[in-house]
Amino acid sequence: MSNDILNVVVTGAAGQIGYSLIFNIVRGEMFGSDQKIRLVLMDIAPMLDGIKGVIMEIEDCCYPLVGEIVVTADPKEAFANADYAILVGGMPRKDGMERADLLKANATIFQVQGKALNDHAKKTCKVLVVANPANTNALIAMVNAPNIPKENFSCLTRLDQNRARAQIALRAKVSVKDVHNIIVWGNHSLTIFPDHRCGYVSLPSGKSTISGAVKDDTWLQNEFVATVQKRGAAVISARKLSSAASAAKAITDHIHDWHLGTPEGEYVSMGVHSDGSYNIPSGIIFSFPVTIKNGVYTIVQGLPIDKNTQEKLDATTAELISEKEVALAL
Ligand code: LMR
Repeated sequence: MSNDILNVVVTGAAGQIGYSLIFNIVRGEMFGSDQKIRLVLMDIAPMLDGIKGVIMEIEDCCYPLVGEIVVTADPKEAFANADYAILVGGMPRKDGMERADLLKANATIFQVQGKALNDHAKKTCKVLVVANPANTNALIAMVNAPNIPKENFSCLTRLDQNRARAQIALRAKVSVKDVHNIIVWGNHSLTIFPDHRCGYVSLPSGKSTISGAVKDDTWLQNEFVATVQKRGAAVISARKLSSAASAAKAITDHIHDWHLGTPEGEYVSMGVHSDGSYNIPSGIIFSFPVTIKNGVYTIVQGLPIDKNTQEKLDATTAELISEKEVALAL
């Protein structure tokens, strides 16, 4: 991987996720400890004064990786020559709302940003959409940026994967680092399907299936799935604000692995344009298990789809298609 300076854009930079994310980036947790970065912090104009304080803090941390820092509210300026665009900015969900309720509020933002990416970013720019509804916002950005390959657009479902992995570790009373290949399928919404069936736990005695380590299939089939699906809402209800540090960590994991690759045999989940794998129709952004090498992801093929999984995939696909129809109507 080249060591040239990377142009990294974060939108919604003045928000809560931004405040955590920016420091993960400048510490080297996203691109590695020797990758120099030019950081572009974008937000709406009234938020820019607050970002000046963040810049003072970045300077005061004395991290050596960041050279220039640009602050702007203009997408054309922000995305000029971008290598990575992390699109966090958008209206956040409040207590009682579903993520799809944000579609109207956020669709225009992603149309404008997709066009600006198309016209100003590098053709190799990689885009991660975080603002909800993340899958459909990523689709809107993608269709507005025909000069950039579809494979360069993604949305964040690593947060759901991390949540699922953490729940398994807690229930099996093992370290989270020993839980592998828990994946999530579909829409970052109430229909996301966390799938433990190809996962395993590494124990001192050898590998165990998740079912063997958890020893409670009823929990795995019901409470585990529901906890992951409703976790974002549970955080909002408790914090009165949506998740921030965990979202920033998941964004860091997503881009880290996209840039530097996944370890041999490890699957990660990314919302990506469907290529028809697992009979998911193309034209939607769907969370699949992937492996990544040299900056290119490959959808893991041949995983077993049983009747229950098929029903879950159908439900989340139907939801994404209906979100897409609403977005097209807008
Ligand atoms: C999350 O999953 O925590 C975020 O997508 C925020 C939300 O609205 O749930």
